[in-house]
Amino acid sequence: MPDIETHDFDILIIGAGGAGLRAAIEAQAKGMRTALVCKSLLGKAHTVMAEGGVAAAMGNVYSEDNWKVHFRDTMRGGKMLNNWRMAQLHAQESPERVLELEQWGALFDRTPDGLILQRDFGGHRYARLAHVGDRTGLELLRTVQHRAVAVGIQVFMECKIIRLLHDEAGRVNGAVGLWRETGKFVVFGAKSVILATGGVGKMYKFTSNSWEGTGDGHALALWAGADLIDMECIQFHPTGMIWPPSARGLLVTEGVRGDGGILKNRDNERFMFNYISDYFKAETSDTIEEADQWYDNKRDFRRPPELLPRDEVARAINSEVKAGRGSPHGGVFLDIASRRSAEDIRRRLPSMYHQFKELADVDITKDAMEIGPTCHYIMGGIRVDADSAAATVPGLFAAGEVAGGMHGANRLGGNSLSDLLVFGRRAGIGAAEYALGTSGKVNIDETQVEKITQHALSFFDHEGHENAYSAHQALQNTMQELVGIIRTESELLEAKDQLRGLEERAQAVSVEGHRQFNPGWHLALDLEAMVAVAQCTTLGAIDRRESRGGHTREDFPLPDNETLGKINMVTSIANGEVSVRSEALPEMPPELKELFEEAH
Ligand code: FUM
Repeated sequence: MPDIETHDFDILIIGAGGAGLRAAIEAQAKGMRTALVCKSLLGKAHTVMAEGGVAAAMGNVYSEDNWKVHFRDTMRGGKMLNNWRMAQLHAQESPERVLELEQWGALFDRTPDGLILQRDFGGHRYARLAHVGDRTGLELLRTVQHRAVAVGIQVFMECKIIRLLHDEAGRVNGAVGLWRETGKFVVFGAKSVILATGGVGKMYKFTSNSWEGTGDGHALALWAGADLIDMECIQFHPTGMIWPPSARGLLVTEGVRGDGGILKNRDNERFMFNYISDYFKAETSDTIEEADQWYDNKRDFRRPPELLPRDEVARAINSEVKAGRGSPHGGVFLDIASRRSAEDIRRRLPSMYHQFKELADVDITKDAMEIGPTCHYIMGGIRVDADSAAATVPGLFAAGEVAGGMHGANRLGGNSLSDLLVFGRRAGIGAAEYALGTSGKVNIDETQVEKITQHALSFFDHEGHENAYSAHQALQNTMQELVGIIRTESELLEAKDQLRGLEERAQAVSVEGHRQFNPGWHLALDLEAMVAVAQCTTLGAIDRRESRGGHTREDFPLPDNETLGKINMVTSIANGEVSVRSEALPEMPPELKELFEEAH
């Protein structure tokens, strides 16, 4: 390739959070020449924001736990929109993946018998989350990162991938990137490509995601012709910091509620008792006395309503605030101080203790936290084959948050870390098998590369004063206000219109300065991805005329189990236009269906 740095690998992995690293370890183990590219620094990924634990039915605390119960909890938490095969593989394989992490050096908290300790989380019937205090994601990332470096994976940091490449048969065979530091382009040729780019949180105003969460992988797949599914299903984690403004959106781990934390409104009422849906009535305590007894003797009592799945808790908090019963800064109170000793809190929740002390000057061993929902995760994503993680375009694979299906309409806490381990590994294997079946040298099409680089540089030539930062802010306002926790037809249609305007604004952004480390240029490139993803979310939300998990329609408040509950919303792009269609969910086999009947 004249004048452009070019690399040739068997497998290119885009994204170096937990899923990308786990995929890389597996691909390398299969003898593949593997490259791992990340737009940030290695080790800086949203994986660390899964703080409270990794869900796996190891049965260390409750011997009754097993993969079938975990499978059932995951499907019910996802409001049955999950790809059943992914949920099955996930539940079956998570324990092995956690033990493997331990062999690679992860230091989990322990039971008195020396087993890996597991804690409670919302929607999980048994204490199931293996954890390292409230820094589990960090420990997981540290462990797979060391392993990946030790086995010799080549890492390319601070490289933003702009577009995927394909061969004449339409098979994905590489990508064009941009070195953030120098502003020069780079081409990666590869027999197969794995997307592991995480989420889309930065299209919302309040999010637990940091600057990297701009939907790059979702957009790369869409532009490459792949299907995305259920993009309307967005998780608002119930507990994000809301004060001070500089900390707004920062995650407050569900581990606080798992360890006994209770939610209260400004009238000091434990309001979650007013929001127990029929769906979870049978297993949820309806009196404070019973809920409190559960903490001491879990086998004999029903779970407290603070441990309902995240979608239910986030909606309840939203309603309390709307009804004028919120805290001074527009959230509610989360109290652990009256439930556990100061020593316990500092030992089990050290990050939360420091986070509130340093950022908000609140001592959580004495006072309640002020919290509110924050955009945390997207359940929708690239449509993949459950077993191989293959996307609908040949040569392309996806794992972790960027892949759809596993979590249905709502993800249970802790299932993201086990998801990225299980499907990161499977994507590594799937991509390796595909690459082994691809003979000959990868041929890069220079015309495609030229078109992509010209497009990226065109932002420097634009006349006018459209600014990437203002356009991004406008996008965040549109999504937060019109496609947020509670949605309605008129607002969604308004969002659709605004997004057309934002698409034009994103294309018209004019970048000043030069190519070396130019954040305005980087944002212009991220922005086109975010706008494309926002369109998918909005179109899916318009067509899903029901309420299900992380998609609540004020105008259709109930789930439609007969029709919409049996379909995926599939978004794709043709001639530059994003459109949505519906397709039937894969049918669950009878032996898995029976698990739900047994539970009744
Ligand atoms: O609340 C948390 O610790 C987040 C966990 C997760 O998203 O899985």
